[in-house]
Amino acid sequence: MVKSFLIGTRNAAPHLHEGIEVLRKGGSILDAVEAAVTGIEESTESGNVGVGGSPNILGVTELDASIMDGTTLRTGAVAAVSKYVNAISIARKVMEETPHVFLVGDGAHRFARAMGFKEWDLSTGRTRMIADVIAKDIAEELTDDFRGKEYYVEMIRSRKLHEWYKKLSDDQYGTTNVIGMDSKGNICVGVSTSGTSLKYPGRVGDSPVIGAGNYCDNRYGGVACTGKGELSIRLLTARMTVKYLEEGMSLEAAITKSFNEILALNDPGSMQCIAVDKNGNTLSASTARESTHWYMDVDMDEPKERPGIWVKAD
Ligand code: GLY
Repeated sequence: MVKSFLIGTRNAAPHLHEGIEVLRKGGSILDAVEAAVTGIEESTESGNVGVGGSPNILGVTELDASIMDGTTLRTGAVAAVSKYVNAISIARKVMEETPHVFLVGDGAHRFARAMGFKEWDLSTGRTRMIADVIAKDIAEELTDDFRGKEYYVEMIRSRKLHEWYKKLSDDQYGTTNVIGMDSKGNICVGVSTSGTSLKYPGRVGDSPVIGAGNYCDNRYGGVACTGKGELSIRLLTARMTVKYLEEGMSLEAAITKSFNEILALNDPGSMQCIAVDKNGNTLSASTARESTHWYMDVDMDEPKERPGIWVKAD
């Protein structure tokens, strides 16, 4: 029997204890994952999650989040949420209070209001500064033909959006991942992000797309992704990795197979993940760098860093 634990990405580490505290008080693994992710969403530390999350090309922060319950395979997700900070909690309410799994934009706002969530200004000095830089940068990028027009429309028409995205570095894809497993083997995965910085308005990444950035099944394990969501959406990376676990692969073999599939796309951008198997083994991986993840169980006072793997092109 494993001790109940949480794992998370680096940006989740300072908030794992908030989830562990919930477990110590008898809360469920869903409660614990939600609490840890909420801690990140409500702090400005990350810069890619919740308040202060990187803005889109119009200077607006838009949040995506999802939660999955590995016991029932029920899920909830939201995308393009710009008026509320508690994206993971709204996603959980979608799972528990609606017959749906995914609400976006105005519909998600309407639902959040109905559920009593507090509106939140997601902008910070940093996001406002980024918005100013974008406006200046775009003004320099575009020719006189575009001035005075809706530049993001013109960027699509002129295919300049492709060039713009090629300039973005891997750092533009920050996300928080938290996976929990209780002593009975119940797994929950929570993912929350402001998505890729400087994204096109309404762009949705892998974080709220169940199967792409989030998947779990108590019988096999759970996976959460960070990185360029355009890659994992095409391959359903989280779902496929759990499928490989189902087929009997080890955690390392399953992730390696999934990440080789990402590399074979031969597209710019990288993918990272954290994962657990049904026995409580944990691992993280990256296609671009050394990888670590953070582990904390109910008997620990502080989270501990654990090494992951770097999956390189063959
Ligand atoms: N993985 C986060 C995103 O692509 O939005």
